[in-house]
Amino acid sequence: MKAIQDYFVPWVKGIPMYVSGHIELAWRQPELHRMMSNENPNPPSAKVQEAIQKYGAMANRYPDQGLVVRSKIAEINGLDGPKNVMIGNGSSEVFDNIFRCFLQVGEEVIQHTPCFGIYKLRCNILGGKLVSVPMIYADKELKFNVDAILAAITDKTKIIVVANPNNPSGNFMNAEDFAKIAETGIPFIVDEAYVEFAGLEKSQVGLIKKYKNVLITRTLSKAYGLAGMRFGYALGHEEVIGQISAALLPWNVGTIPMWAALAALEDIEGLTERVEFNNREVAYIENALSDIPGFIVFHSAANYILFDGSGTGKAGDDLVAFVQERGIILRPQSTMYGQNGWWRLTLGTQEENRMAVEAIRAFYA
Ligand SMILES: Cc1ncc(COP(=O)(O)O)c(C=O)c1O
Repeated sequence: MKAIQDYFVPWVKGIPMYVSGHIELAWRQPELHRMMSNENPNPPSAKVQEAIQKYGAMANRYPDQGLVVRSKIAEINGLDGPKNVMIGNGSSEVFDNIFRCFLQVGEEVIQHTPCFGIYKLRCNILGGKLVSVPMIYADKELKFNVDAILAAITDKTKIIVVANPNNPSGNFMNAEDFAKIAETGIPFIVDEAYVEFAGLEKSQVGLIKKYKNVLITRTLSKAYGLAGMRFGYALGHEEVIGQISAALLPWNVGTIPMWAALAALEDIEGLTERVEFNNREVAYIENALSDIPGFIVFHSAANYILFDGSGTGKAGDDLVAFVQERGIILRPQSTMYGQNGWWRLTLGTQEENRMAVEAIRAFYA
């Protein structure tokens, strides 16, 4: 008799469950200040909470395919209708669904690093090969390197993914560079998880009218503040969205998330308040930390800020540990570009941001 391990497909065998240590910690110790996971510090608006209550009372019913919320999303983005929109349990599930439709074992996904970790996780579980193309670190900036992305393409490349703005660097790629990648015809995902903080004018959604291979992904976890609700979506050409939607789990998005999402999308005032709060506080933190000698602040168009404190001679991990002793969780970053001074902060409430600035300045003093 074969052991159970021998029945697993080889590319899944040995992969552990993904556990986000800092999120686990934050739920175990709710007194800690959560400034590590690019969440929104503001709770859902009254209108969204009302929808949650209303549809909570109907949770005995199966959800439909989300035609109402998909139509609203199409309208906001100037698209024809729900056939241009696929919804998922957070954009993480949207990536998974797209990856499963394009990637076979041994085929390649190109990502631009440093970047969000989900592309790697979903690639690995399918037995794909992840190709990481580094951004260029020069002039105190992390710059997109489209030429290197194009040079990394092989006949096995099935997906290219670029986050815009990028996490953790917080910046946008130049608008003209998107067409260069789109022109290759390779499925090209533009991850716009944070685009609402800068405004939809910065979106690349217009590309999908010209290029069938371009997919735009979004989430309500960030500017809309619904990370715990799990709602994300993809925008694309109707043929492509239709084909990818064939791989969706039936009823993948629950009744409560889809109606809460609709309420959030309709609550323009709620979004505006959150975006204005965020952008004001990002400017405050960037300013408050900009004069530390040897310290690099990466200007952010999102709700997190990346820092390189290598020039101070102090390690990023030590900063994160020091601040955590004062009750604030930040996000360490691995060693990058041969330097270990990196770390990232997510915006908290006004009070939390001031506490964090004080603790960070005390560490570098
Ligand atoms: C760049 C980027 N894309 C997507 C997501 C995923 O968000 P969700 O699965 O909550 O929609 C995140 C979350 O941090 C992110 O940073």
